[in-house]
Amino acid sequence: MQLLILPPSSHDGLQVRSQIRSPLPVLPPPPSHNAVVVRSLLTTTSMEREQILRDIQYNVFAFPAALITCDFLTDSGTSAMTDIQWAAVMRGDESYGRNSGYYCLLDAFRDIFERGDTQERIYRDVLAGTADADFYRKKCLKGYEGGFVNGGSVQLSRPNFFIVPQGRCAESLLFSSMKETLVGQSSENVTQPVIISNGFFDTTGANAAVAGFERQTFLQPGLSDPFPEELIGKRNFFKGNLDIAAAEEFLRKHGDRVALILITITNNFAAGQPVSMANIRQTAAIAKRYRIPLFFDACRFAENAKFIQDFEEGFSRSSIGQIVQEMFSYVDGFTISLKKDGLANMGGALCFRDQGLFTQKFSGHKDKIPIGELIKERQILCYGNDSYGGMSGRDLMAAAVGLYEVTKESYLRNRISQVQSFAQKLHANGIPVLLPPGGHAIYLDMDGFFDGCDRAPEEFASVGFTIELLRDYGIRAWEAGPFAWEWDKKTAAERKNIPNLVRFAVPRNTMTDHHINYTVAAILQLHAKRHTIPGVKIIRGAESRLRHFQSGFALVPLEVKQEVKQNVNLEVKQIGLYNKVEVFTARIVRNQSSLEALFGARLK
Ligand code: F0G
Repeated sequence: MQLLILPPSSHDGLQVRSQIRSPLPVLPPPPSHNAVVVRSLLTTTSMEREQILRDIQYNVFAFPAALITCDFLTDSGTSAMTDIQWAAVMRGDESYGRNSGYYCLLDAFRDIFERGDTQERIYRDVLAGTADADFYRKKCLKGYEGGFVNGGSVQLSRPNFFIVPQGRCAESLLFSSMKETLVGQSSENVTQPVIISNGFFDTTGANAAVAGFERQTFLQPGLSDPFPEELIGKRNFFKGNLDIAAAEEFLRKHGDRVALILITITNNFAAGQPVSMANIRQTAAIAKRYRIPLFFDACRFAENAKFIQDFEEGFSRSSIGQIVQEMFSYVDGFTISLKKDGLANMGGALCFRDQGLFTQKFSGHKDKIPIGELIKERQILCYGNDSYGGMSGRDLMAAAVGLYEVTKESYLRNRISQVQSFAQKLHANGIPVLLPPGGHAIYLDMDGFFDGCDRAPEEFASVGFTIELLRDYGIRAWEAGPFAWEWDKKTAAERKNIPNLVRFAVPRNTMTDHHINYTVAAILQLHAKRHTIPGVKIIRGAESRLRHFQSGFALVPLEVKQEVKQNVNLEVKQIGLYNKVEVFTARIVRNQSSLEALFGARLK
């Protein structure tokens, strides 16, 4: 802080007055885009939302999106596309065999994941309508080989790039084909093959399990360690890293069973935390030592690259293109959902390095079918021929162009900083939130949120929080805690690792500061009345796989805990009845002084 000497004032009669000048405001990144089309939101009342919640048995996944004000359920497929993507959509070609989007997407993958800053951007000719026969021969049918995306006749003879409708289809293709190959290769008494990861997303883990793989997760310790607020935006400990020592220990004992190492960037299992380049290099080194193919789950590769640029030593002068190129140079292949860092509403892909370790290890199928051909056969059976894989030509164009748009530095700067400021605003107001935030979401620490309320995990109070947030404020978030991670089905040892979080995933290019500020205020209000948030009872779907999509709940009537009762009187006063919904105000009185006035509604 500086002292500012002001000239004598005629009003206060002082000769010299000193005053503390406030520091210059921190300059946020300059805006990265303008809105050119907007969608107005419907206004609904909490009463209307309460009725709908009852109709859908309080499962927030089943709530009609059109009635929601701020939808933080996911960042997947929810992006607002850019005008260039929409222009590309108009140039989409719905032919069944070899539409132009297919060629654009193949080459976009080469540009983004392999070529660094020397990109061809062939989509521009398709957009401009200048792609002629010469262009198709020289650019689209060129015989690339040796990378992730073979070209021309080599893609036919050695297929290694597969389009699918979304990420989980890529996972399913990969794991089911690997398993079939392993079964074909082995003699009797096969031991269960293992996939090692820094964190499996839920569909990824489920697909691996269904295909018969054992999953081993080795996440670098310290995810929920406190992080000094003043270091947010200045330092990052890459909490999404693979725990190299633990992974190596496992490999030393069981290396022969490990079929694949899968690194998720950013690590959605670990609150969207990034993985450092150093960690990727170390993982690649152990993978090489044990001759195990290394893959990325690359859904949020661009956000991960921005974290490396911002926080890892030696990368501040590298472009996003160069960083992505280096990250992918270490892997044998990857799956990707283009619904995240493809900036598209649909799409996914699986690819692997031509004639690389993965191909060598998984091409001994019993009928001697190379792995690429096996996958292509499945792709055609389940999704469609190799030039569309279940995606429309328009979607292919949108995703191809989206890969360039999502790797623009100005976009990424704004994206990461919006999520960061969301977390900072909550933290500054005393709401416990995982710090530093990851790339795509903020996570409330619900144990901290309910501190002093004595909530048992099996009450599922964090689900109750998401229900109240939706009912009272029209905001949708996702409980990633005891309910989602199936506390009720886990052993005492497993329960120790179950976090109690609520995720707010921020859609790309969709929300303004207004959305964030409104949501922060709503969370603060709910925090003030946290003693009154109900728990829930699962009344349907408790046993289903991925049950958060399918379950139904009943609210567990408001109960004020014994300890709280000793200090607090809860005065509930009914103020009206609306279609069998009782509207009430409540007032918590502690030590005779009023703490806060509360509002709510409950079933009669
Ligand atoms: N891998 C990761 C790391 C993911 O976050 C997701 C989806 C997938 C794979 C599957 O991709 O949805 O295209 O099939 N995550 C979304 C989410 C659904 O909300 O986090 P998909």
